[in-house]
Amino acid sequence: MNIHVFRDGGELKDAVLLMFRSEGKGWNKVDQELARLVGLDPEISFSGKAGRTRLCSVAGGTCLLVGLGKAEDLDLEGFRAAVGTAVRAAASQELSSLAVASEHLDHLELADDLTLECIVAARLASYRFVTFKSDPGEEDGPASLAVWSDEVDMEAKVARAMAVADGVGLARDLVNTPANVATPEHLAGVARDLAEKFGFGVQVYGPEEIVGMGMGSFASVFRGSDTPARFIVLDSMPGSDAKPLVFVGKGVTFDTGGISLKPSAKMHEMKGDMAGAAAILGLFKALGQSGGSPRRVVGLLPCTENVPGSRATKPGDVVTAMNGKTIEILNTDAEGRLILADALAYSERFKPEILVDLATLTGACLVALGTKVAAVFSTTAELDQRIRESGSRVGERFWPMPLWKEYGVPLKGEVADLKNIATREGGAIYAAMFLKNFVPEGVDWAHLDIAGPAWTDENASVFRPGGTGFGVRTLWELVDAYAGQDGETAF
Ligand code: BES
Ligand code: MN
Ligand code: ZN
Repeated sequence: MNIHVFRDGGELKDAVLLMFRSEGKGWNKVDQELARLVGLDPEISFSGKAGRTRLCSVAGGTCLLVGLGKAEDLDLEGFRAAVGTAVRAAASQELSSLAVASEHLDHLELADDLTLECIVAARLASYRFVTFKSDPGEEDGPASLAVWSDEVDMEAKVARAMAVADGVGLARDLVNTPANVATPEHLAGVARDLAEKFGFGVQVYGPEEIVGMGMGSFASVFRGSDTPARFIVLDSMPGSDAKPLVFVGKGVTFDTGGISLKPSAKMHEMKGDMAGAAAILGLFKALGQSGGSPRRVVGLLPCTENVPGSRATKPGDVVTAMNGKTIEILNTDAEGRLILADALAYSERFKPEILVDLATLTGACLVALGTKVAAVFSTTAELDQRIRESGSRVGERFWPMPLWKEYGVPLKGEVADLKNIATREGGAIYAAMFLKNFVPEGVDWAHLDIAGPAWTDENASVFRPGGTGFGVRTLWELVDAYAGQDGETAF
């Protein structure tokens, strides 16, 4: 969906103007004015219920009324869902160009800048994944959104909104792309393209180099696969010695469970087990396309398949991670923590300001929290708060989980220093406690278990079934929060 800005209502032309309305409420003054301008009867009957729309032909063109639901229940998430409803309605009515008026959105008082939220939501909602369709035209949605605004810097704001939405789009594409295409080398190719286009530093290490660096934990996961693993390092300011924000993303391009094989029901969804890595690539796309951040950002992406094979790691095998700790692998399906362990240890050389990992790490997290929220495990209250605030601004929810030291006890090994699993009960916490063993001394760290919200089966709000790009917008806000503070920046 293309976005363009116009200043004069006369330019509305054939675009269908979106008018949002709450249940049981008429128009206010501003909207009545707007309605009159386009020739819409301000008294027109429309319930305003969430999920409802009404298309009206008016003297000045066409309007699409969009329900917001009960005014007292309305929040920014509800507004995003209404934008999703509008885009879906436009698609089914074959309306190709939409328009919104900033003045109309502003008085809803749901955000500092609802026009920007509307643009991001509209672009997310018009996402389609057609790479593998022989006839991609079949389900076309609206092709353009015209934004009626007299703000002078609206074009620049639109460009920023588009950058974030495109970052989310990249993450969704990568999650939706099947594992026979989205291999570790494919992800490396995406990283190299971003680096070349936007001037990031990029390094890509192969299996021998990963072994050579002492990453025995990471290597234990790729042993069984003929598809070569990659360790990708992206740096927004190569050569700088500023303390970076370091983001680590789980990049398991397909998780069969390995020798501890998973049951086959829903196994195809495990093509999305690289959603953490995808979110970081999405963040770098957003950073690049928007002209970057004054903060140095580093992405560490361990990428591999987890498959059985004659060379695959067997339950009971012992390996040594980069920080020297030995691990007894009791279940090869607990592989995410094994690749993240070495990536977290590797981060030490950057002296991170903060270290945040994103991973579709445990089914236990899904059992605990469902699909609408991610878990955040943080070593400091400040980082926990910043992540949850950043997330709530963009509609990505995080719920705090504990890192109490008692939960570290069951991970102590009989044979080696650590076991890679403890009990089923509390599984999300044990995974986090395992990772904590590999976080460099004194670094503020947070682990985000995104197993639930990274994927959706629903066609709702601004999403379609498949990858959601969860995490991109939170990381983007987080980078912004750290860029705004007095700290060490590149300038
Ligand atoms: N990738 C899975 C976790 C997962 C499950 C993500 C469902 C998204 C949806 C992870 O590698 C895994 O298999 N975890 C195991 C750990 C267990 C063996 C301790 C799990 O959660 O069952
Ligand atoms: Mn697994
Ligand atoms: Zn996994």
